[in-house]
Amino acid sequence: MEIISGVALSRNIKEEIKEEVSGFLDQGLRKPKLVAVLVGLDGPSQTYVNAKVKDCHQVGFESEAIRLDESTSEEELLSWVKKLNEDASVDGFIVQLPLPKKIDETKILLAIDPLKDVDGFHPVNIGNMALGLPGFVPATPAGVMQMLDRSGIETSGKHCVIVGRSKIVGMPLSILLARNSNPGNCTVTLTHSRTKNLEEICKEADILIAALGKPGFIKADMVKKGAVVIDVGISRVETDTNEKGYLIQGDVDFNSVSDKVSFISPVPGGVGPMTRTSLLTNTLRAYKRSFNLN
Ligand code: GUN
Repeated sequence: MEIISGVALSRNIKEEIKEEVSGFLDQGLRKPKLVAVLVGLDGPSQTYVNAKVKDCHQVGFESEAIRLDESTSEEELLSWVKKLNEDASVDGFIVQLPLPKKIDETKILLAIDPLKDVDGFHPVNIGNMALGLPGFVPATPAGVMQMLDRSGIETSGKHCVIVGRSKIVGMPLSILLARNSNPGNCTVTLTHSRTKNLEEICKEADILIAALGKPGFIKADMVKKGAVVIDVGISRVETDTNEKGYLIQGDVDFNSVSDKVSFISPVPGGVGPMTRTSLLTNTLRAYKRSFNLN
């Protein structure tokens, strides 16, 4: 059994990005810039945004976190989006989700310029991804594809079962893994809360991707011997064993499943760091596009 270390892989990718950026700075170009907009005080969202800012500095990007009050209206947020769309010094930006309930998430996502949508959530980018055209691929699915690729895992002709059909993970991954590309060329089964016989279907997977957000849901008896297991779950589970009061847990019961598999990604230290790095990769692509560096 091999553990796929998202920490080690993302460290390598960040080194590659840093080197590329340093080359551009040597040519006299400005730094790439990523902006994250955060509305309200959601705990995990604050952690993610802080991490994104830190990652940018590590690779030599400019970054800014725009922290808006919980009471921010939809109109105000739309005007921030417009401002960022028009700001030539910003290569890419994201609006951290979830947004407060009174703000229509779709309206906000639709207002983002697809060329700056480094989250890859805009329908134009989802459409481009589905058609195999250039565009931004959402960060978590892109990170999972990098994990498979950089770990030398053969995907062609394999049966890939994805548990969870979310718009930002399961759905895009089902498209990417079924595409005629490498990694790709999988036979994909996208399962969800209404799926019947889920356990049997999971057991047929050569590659099992757990992205449903239920800690420890995938148990050893749901996994085929020798399968590749990628755990996308990141749940906070209460504990009194540390100061934070919570532990980060994946969707896979790592201890029992890891004995049976060929490859497994851990939580923490698996998909999480890869997601963060993919956002940097997307931002660098946006930057290169605007300077015609491709
Ligand atoms: N909330 C949880 N994951 C994400 C993400 O990848 N992007 C944004 N914008 N919000 C999120």
